[in-house]
Amino acid sequence: MTKQLLLGQTLGFDGDALADWQGATRHDSAGGVVIDAGLIVATGSGAALRAAHPDAAVTDYGDALISAGFVDAHMHYPQTPIIASWGKQLIDWLNTYTFPQEMRLADTDYARQVADTTLDLALAHGTTTLTSFCTIHPGSVDAWFEGAAARGMAVVGGKTCMDRNAPGGLRDTVQSAYDDSKALLDRWHGKGRATYAITPRFSPTSTPDQLAALGALWAERPEVLMQTHLSEQLPEIAWVRDLFPQSRDYLDTYEAFGLLGPKGLYGHAIHLEPREIDRLAEVDAAVVHCPTSNTFIGSGLFDMAGLAARGLRIGLATDTGGGSNFSMLRTMAAAYEIGQLRGTPLHPAQLMWLATEGSARSLHMGGQIGHLGVGSAADITVLDLSSTPAIAQRAAQATDIWEALFPTIMMGDDRAVRDVWVGGVRARA
Ligand code: GUN
Ligand code: ZN
Repeated sequence: MTKQLLLGQTLGFDGDALADWQGATRHDSAGGVVIDAGLIVATGSGAALRAAHPDAAVTDYGDALISAGFVDAHMHYPQTPIIASWGKQLIDWLNTYTFPQEMRLADTDYARQVADTTLDLALAHGTTTLTSFCTIHPGSVDAWFEGAAARGMAVVGGKTCMDRNAPGGLRDTVQSAYDDSKALLDRWHGKGRATYAITPRFSPTSTPDQLAALGALWAERPEVLMQTHLSEQLPEIAWVRDLFPQSRDYLDTYEAFGLLGPKGLYGHAIHLEPREIDRLAEVDAAVVHCPTSNTFIGSGLFDMAGLAARGLRIGLATDTGGGSNFSMLRTMAAAYEIGQLRGTPLHPAQLMWLATEGSARSLHMGGQIGHLGVGSAADITVLDLSSTPAIAQRAAQATDIWEALFPTIMMGDDRAVRDVWVGGVRARA
């Protein structure tokens, strides 16, 4: 593989931009990134890198912005074909649109098509890592990891486990959930760039016995991630209370069965009790903010400022197809809007940090992906900050990088993605 030198504006981070964005931000208006054998091997001033690496092939992006590739910390690839389905809140949305669609992935050829479509859409939108729920069908997990491997992408995935409150074609059992998850994680975890996540959908669709079996599997394989949903919508929380009368709160339905741990990813986490926040912070678990989903399904306003102040790991995610857009730019915009509604708007640096470093940290992959720094995988997204006339006329008034970038965060889409590199290979011309 030839050594590559990418030139342009560069934006990277060292440290926690939610705590101190000025201190964490590294912006160079004439920067560069050197890639060798799939990794970033140098960053700095473009001119200095050009002098130090005369053997590198040069791609000059002018004043486009070179960033780490976006990391989507929670989504459902099987739901790509039902994105933007009208008029339902969570439980009705699952029953009306989601479960019938997920049943279709019993056909592994169809699962492959949906996985391929989703991965290509992600790359077109500048997303280089996705963290996906698959369906209950083991073939849907193979389809996901095979599709990602064909594109060189680091992805997370897991077989969604459900043994109650789902239609017949979408239920597994206590034993098959354990056996299939174990076989799949043995097959995929650590193979190439694949990471496995044990995946109970959410506590309403698993019996206590199934949750306990998956907790036991996680105890046997603590190196893998565990992903699920937590406190997304009020009627869901009331349902959990009815189904688990002994539990202190929603998080306790996971905690009691060994499903609370440092490598746990808890999607949504909107309506949390103080005890739940304390426990998530104590065990260093991650919560994942899914802003377009939370407004689209009508779930509520995530407390970014409050949870960040507790030092929680926080990822950012599309949650497609409950989320209404494949773009992490639109996802950042929605996170900004929710911050505004709570009176705590996020700075553009914090939005970019969440979409890259924050999500990577939530996945325990900090420094390996989502990072524009030496030693990280060369998963890189290059943004055109004047991709449409509306954005260009606003960016033309900018007096600093944040004013130049924010219009693209708020109004940008796949047209803003000038180029994408995955593992040091150009993914999109
Ligand atoms: N809770 C349980 N399953 C789902 C899902 O597929 N999407 C969302 N947004 N919430 C869920
Ligand atoms: Zn979800």
